Amino acid sequence: MKTLRVELGPRSYPIHIGPGLLGRADLVVPHLAGRQVLVVTNEVVAPLYLERVLAAFEGLETATVVLPDGEAHKNLESLTQVFDALLEHRHARDTTVVALGGGVVGDLAGFAAATYQRGVAFVQLPTTLLAQVDSSVGGKTGVNHPRGKNMIGAFHQPSCVLADTDTLATLDDRQLRAGVAEVIKYGLIRDLDFFLWLEDHLEGVLRRDADALATAIERSCRNKAQVVASDERETGVRALLNLGHTFGHAIETGVGYGEWLHGEAVAAGMCLAADLSARRGWLAPTDRERVRALVARAGLPTHPPASLGVDRFLDLMAVDKKVRGGRLRLVLLRDIGEAVLTDEFDPGLLRATLEAG
Ligand code: NAD
Ligand code: GLY
Repeated sequence: MKTLRVELGPRSYPIHIGPGLLGRADLVVPHLAGRQVLVVTNEVVAPLYLERVLAAFEGLETATVVLPDGEAHKNLESLTQVFDALLEHRHARDTTVVALGGGVVGDLAGFAAATYQRGVAFVQLPTTLLAQVDSSVGGKTGVNHPRGKNMIGAFHQPSCVLADTDTLATLDDRQLRAGVAEVIKYGLIRDLDFFLWLEDHLEGVLRRDADALATAIERSCRNKAQVVASDERETGVRALLNLGHTFGHAIETGVGYGEWLHGEAVAAGMCLAADLSARRGWLAPTDRERVRALVARAGLPTHPPASLGVDRFLDLMAVDKKVRGGRLRLVLLRDIGEAVLTDEFDPGLLRATLEAG
């Protein structure tokens, strides 16, 4: 097992990464606020892992919510189900909400924890690659609105993250690849050596070679923990974690939640960001091709869906949390391993990138 820490003063917490962690009461129970626990999971994950998790909470007052599966259910209706369960079982302010699942469950359960009785404790048990390398760390929680991804949410840090790498064995290949998109992201935004490592070891990660996966998860979490520790509430550098996301969120919303996986949309979004960066004169055209080549080798889309016309795409991109004073800001690449948040791009170039697809 590897342990990293997100250093946030009194809100610091460990990220444990390794096999066989889900049943480890010794790792999770010390992070509970009291004797009440609400485990939030979904209909796919519950039959696989719920029993193991409940065993770790034996002797405590435990309730469970099993949500319908999928991005389309990351909404206020599912959130109400969680609040209903908390109230039905009379959970008090010292309850702990435990998220067991991928990023959808984690974001939603985290938002429930952030808002129930103005905030209760929260533990993340991520079971997808994407959640283990990204969404379970950093305290961004929330749900989607039909008009925009993640538009309703709060910052609320977990008290502990247990990334049990054994759970990845049941993940299907498409979901694994979606997680790889966020792994590639860290290399692109701030870790050239990691990008080079991925160019050499991508097939090992896709084959689920244990060492390759462990390195990919640990290195991703290390990058994320460092960024979050230096800018918890995204007043600056944390925005770089959104490389490809303004394009990606527009794709997810535009085609309908769940049609394109989040990681797939981010993958195409990163390629669009690389293209605009090259048109802007920052990224060398050969490096734009390197980005596309790695994304393609991961079996991820390098281009957005043709069905999304340019005007609709631009409209959707305008609903973004990085918009300031009506101006769109994007994360672009000055180089591989060096991202910047900027509004310094000619709108004509953005249109050209979208038109080129
Ligand atoms: P997901 O939660 O929908 O999980 C993907 C699929 O895998 C689902 O069908 C799920 O039921 C299934 N699943 C989960 N674990 C499994 C396992 N071990 N074996 C078999 N099947 C399993 O999607 P995701 O990719 O994990 O997360 C995407 C979400 O995360 C998006 O909503 C995105 O906005 C959010 N996100 C949040 C942050 C953040 O910082 N909070 C960062 C990145 C992404
Ligand atoms: N995934 C973006 C962030 O955590 O800030």
